[in-house]
Amino acid sequence: MKLAIVGCGSRHSMFSDSVTDDYPDKHEIVAVCDNNPHRLSLAAQAASREGTNGVAAYDAADFDAMIAEQKPDTVVVTTPDFLHASYIVRAFEAGCDVICEKPMTIDLASLKQITDAQKRTGRQVRVTFNYRYSPARTQVKDIIASGQIGEVTAVDFRWHLDRVHGADYFRRWHRQKENSGGLLVHKSTHHFDLLNWWLGAVPSQVTASGRRAFYRPETALSMGLAQRGARCATCEVADRCDFELNLDEDAQLHALYREAEHEDGYYRDLCVFDEEIGIEDTMQAHIRYGSGATVNYTLTAYSPWEGLEIKFQGTKGDLTHKHVEVHGVFGGERAHAGKDAVWTELHIAGQPPQKIDVPTAEGHHGGADPVMLGYIFDPDNMEPDQYNRASDHVAGGWSILTGIAANMSIETGSTVDIPTMLKGRGITLS
Ligand SMILES: NC(=O)c1ccc[n+]([C@@H]2O[C@H](COP(=O)([O-])OP(=O)(O)OC[C@H]3O[C@@H](n4cnc5c(N)ncnc54)[C@H](O)[C@@H]3O)[C@@H](O)[C@H]2O)c1
Repeated sequence: MKLAIVGCGSRHSMFSDSVTDDYPDKHEIVAVCDNNPHRLSLAAQAASREGTNGVAAYDAADFDAMIAEQKPDTVVVTTPDFLHASYIVRAFEAGCDVICEKPMTIDLASLKQITDAQKRTGRQVRVTFNYRYSPARTQVKDIIASGQIGEVTAVDFRWHLDRVHGADYFRRWHRQKENSGGLLVHKSTHHFDLLNWWLGAVPSQVTASGRRAFYRPETALSMGLAQRGARCATCEVADRCDFELNLDEDAQLHALYREAEHEDGYYRDLCVFDEEIGIEDTMQAHIRYGSGATVNYTLTAYSPWEGLEIKFQGTKGDLTHKHVEVHGVFGGERAHAGKDAVWTELHIAGQPPQKIDVPTAEGHHGGADPVMLGYIFDPDNMEPDQYNRASDHVAGGWSILTGIAANMSIETGSTVDIPTMLKGRGITLS
């Protein structure tokens, strides 16, 4: 494949490094594109191979020219979320397939643009839901699909973001719904995708509530941080704040963001307690599935630990899965962080509970990223994927609809019916 990457921030490196380090004989990055000249230049250097003229670098304004001139087969989209749809559609129209980071997009209007363009052009977008590929999550899929717990009727699903990882969404572009769709889209797209995939079903109705309970000025005051500044770099009380992100202390953050900020005013270390933040940090949703299953879902972004807990109640028994995760996100204090720990328990009615041995794998996101990259860049050398983990625009679409409906429900206080919502916008997801 000839690939072009648009959006050269932290996430793009996973794709760029994978192509240049792991699959150099199979694929080639022919161009990179970003609106920030500094990050663009770093990305071009990183993707360039020794003994060549390097990789072509294009300003965001020249994205279409990049495709016309460099003729990639596939465009990798790793920009902020609200820009995904425009790049997907333009890549489709130019005859390219797309690999897109999650969430595929953030609202109904842009979802319709993607589905219409997909139908018109026949091109494909692969949404990189890395969580599906973690061995522990694949095992859950396996157990449910085996029918051991019968028909899944009710699910309790809680996702905890700790004060290091969770805080990071309140520092930069994610903090406004118009950029990220809020955490119910930006973050929960992973969780709702897992649910849809595990249950083999799609959501039909959502009732939700949400608010910003922690990352707000009152919390800073209660911590004695009344003199807090707009960003950590210039904050008088940063040295007393558990949420400080010091961009000068980490070489990677410094190179990628601090040295680039004069170009576009993108500050990576905005105060997590700002009044102007527009997203929630405490969210709960009740979701009805087309299959009849119902789900209670909770997401918090300031928990004392990081990870997920889920219980599937089935007609023959229940399945419980818990994962304590330790993510390498920068900034803040992660006191008393344990080690990664996973456990899964199967309890069939009439039998004692049974602890299940959970397989592990090396690599980011619990070993998920390398497996996913193998299926993307070297599918011929992977086992046939009996779990159907590759996600297209349909799975990408369904994974954001619960969050979009939940956001509407938070705004209106009413239950949102997803088929009605889709019909009203003329969106067909199949
Ligand atoms: N699957 C995962 O686990 C995972 C993890 C991290 C990020 N992501 C996703 O990856 C994407 C990027 O996140 P990130 O953390 O790298 O963000 P980032 O802010 O570090 O990088 C975004 C890049 O896009 C560039 N950009 C901004 N406007 C642009 C435009 N108009 N045209 C082209 N480039 C533009 C920025 O300059 C920056 O270099 C997001 O969609 C995020 O949800 C996924």
